Amino acid sequence: MTGLFITFEGGDGTGKSTQSELLGEWFTNQGREVVFTREPGGTDLGLELREIVLHSRNHIAPRAEALLYAADRAHNIKTVVRPALARGAVVIQDRYLDSSVAYQGAGRVLDPVEVRNLSLWATEGLLPDFTVVLDLAPAVGRERLDAANKRFDRLESEALEFHTRVRDSYLELAAAEPARFIVVDATLDRDVIRDAILARLNER
Ligand code: TYD
Repeated sequence: MTGLFITFEGGDGTGKSTQSELLGEWFTNQGREVVFTREPGGTDLGLELREIVLHSRNHIAPRAEALLYAADRAHNIKTVVRPALARGAVVIQDRYLDSSVAYQGAGRVLDPVEVRNLSLWATEGLLPDFTVVLDLAPAVGRERLDAANKRFDRLESEALEFHTRVRDSYLELAAAEPARFIVVDATLDRDVIRDAILARLNER
């Protein structure tokens, strides 16, 4: 039995955690070991880095921001994800390198190829088997966050134009690697989204 690495991507307020849980339940019912993790903050060290990158009062230069996410990623992949995959587990992860390409690349306007290569260096070249993009207009995502009364982090506080570049970047990434990605309309019903994801996974 080989491990499976599945990542969830999309803007804030798109329902990634709900869908991760639903997918995890499905794999658990199949008798598989499921490991949930997230970036930033999937490890103890990652939680410290997460606090800095999301809540520091200091200005963080775009390249420093990219390196902080890459540091969190390097540690999470080395200490959580690779060992789990080696045991044959299904790893379901909230955000991965596509987040960096979208947010630090398209959002902060760093070179997307350099940002991707930085993550590949950090992780010794690990790509997901399957990546779900929950696609949502940024204005709708923002309304959902407002409704949930959430404290906005450094990235969420960015203007809608920033989040529009992020969204467009995800759609471009998905179009460039159709075998790895599935894009689902995040306004659909929770169960409809889950079934769409499962149908695509089963095809493979
Ligand atoms: P996330 O944990 O999904 O936020 P929350 O739990 O508050 O919904 O992600 C935190 C933020 O970090 C999110 O706005 C996206 C951003 N981010 C990047 O900019 N680059 C990255 O590489 C990653 C993983 C996240």
